[in-house]
Amino acid sequence: MTISISPAKGHANGHAISDKHHLKRSPEHGFSTRAIHIGSEADPTTGAVIPPISLSTTYKQDEVGVHKGFEYSRSGNPNRDALERTLVGLEAGAGHAITFSSGSATTATILQSLGPNAHVLSVNDVYGGTFRFLTRVAKETMGIESTFVDLENAADSDVLGAIKENTKLIWIESPTNPTLRLIDIPRIVALARQAQSKPLVLVDNTFLSPFYASPLLQGADIVIHSLTKYINGHSDVVMGAAIFPSSSTPDSDYDTLAQKLRFLQNAHGAVPSAFDCWLAQRGAKTLAVRMKTHGLNALRIASFLTSHPAVEHVIYPGLATHPLHALAHTSLSPHTQQFLNTLPQSTLAHGIPYGGMVSFRVRGGARSAEALLPKLKLFTLAESLGGVESLAELPARMTHASIPPAEREALGIEGLVRLSCGIEEVEDLVEDLRSALDGLEDEDSGCESGLVTPPSDVSDGL
Ligand SMILES: Cc1ncc(COP(=O)(O)O)c(C=O)c1O
Repeated sequence: MTISISPAKGHANGHAISDKHHLKRSPEHGFSTRAIHIGSEADPTTGAVIPPISLSTTYKQDEVGVHKGFEYSRSGNPNRDALERTLVGLEAGAGHAITFSSGSATTATILQSLGPNAHVLSVNDVYGGTFRFLTRVAKETMGIESTFVDLENAADSDVLGAIKENTKLIWIESPTNPTLRLIDIPRIVALARQAQSKPLVLVDNTFLSPFYASPLLQGADIVIHSLTKYINGHSDVVMGAAIFPSSSTPDSDYDTLAQKLRFLQNAHGAVPSAFDCWLAQRGAKTLAVRMKTHGLNALRIASFLTSHPAVEHVIYPGLATHPLHALAHTSLSPHTQQFLNTLPQSTLAHGIPYGGMVSFRVRGGARSAEALLPKLKLFTLAESLGGVESLAELPARMTHASIPPAEREALGIEGLVRLSCGIEEVEDLVEDLRSALDGLEDEDSGCESGLVTPPSDVSDGL
């Protein structure tokens, strides 16, 4: 939904814009207030505080072409509109939000909007499904070429050198999935603005969610989310969204981009259902409280893991020992900065909450990592992330299996364990990990019966 453009009767595809949708986001309202109230006004006909679910596929017209803003549910639906308005309220700097039936459908639509013979410069450690789409679908069926660059470490000249005459998009994830590499978004934006082809800069903000990061405030042109993850937050909806500003600049015509994506949304028909939109909106209302706990739990778990003898390496940019911790800290959204100010110094002794994802390697490599996962009882061995329940997985064999083995090896994905830290009681999660890691050590020392007592004086660092 578009919030700040002037009222009109409707989009070309019949997508509704009514006056009540033109709520300007109140800058004075905080993140959670916006999450709860924008897009969720009481129903004008019944007074219902929670929006009804509009399952109708079609809408009555009083005369031909005269309707209340909705014609056919693929083109526009009240629950989808409401969710899109909520998303504009959540992602700081946004003016447009357009939802799709998955994060992957969002990726596909954005890439298709570039047109044939375009070139995309992507971060090398990109989500496996995005890599698969760029290399196997966009290349073969859309004629779109991609170059993958280590945007964390590449020098400015190397990034500029990789931008071609036809580079229309730079694709960033930060932190990347699953090795949690950090990209300096303002630096890449500044380089993109220098390039002749004026590529748009897109950030897949799924991992941090609009709570921890506000890439549009850092100059990015487009943010995408797999709403399947933190924004819905309850592992019961698959959905995605593209979100971007509404005020156009000479280089970036966001209103035209919105028209193009809205047209493709209707033409492809990869739209989310009314019920899923209703669920995702309900989930989004608690995003801040969930994200705070995800972050605090992840920080505690990362600190614990660094102290366990069976763990070789822990990656969590929130840890003060992470090489790019300073970048993680300065890149936080204004609302997360405020949250940090409310935390006692003792909580921040080892770092800061920085989303709920933690990756680590155990001693003994991939074989030990694979042996560890079934030992966990509270962390469920499963793909995906961002739900209230904790999940653990082996990216090389699961979410990132579509990346060729040599590239997985080069990126450091082989043998890596990825945790999506949920919002359960954190000490229960720590005990779950401790018990599984202790069990691994017992096996390695040939004492599966547990006759060798693990060291009892291991400090987990907090
Ligand atoms: C970072 C990231 N982006 C995009 C996607 C794709 O989203 P979806 O599964 O909703 O299609 C995923 C899925 O795991 C993801 O982790």
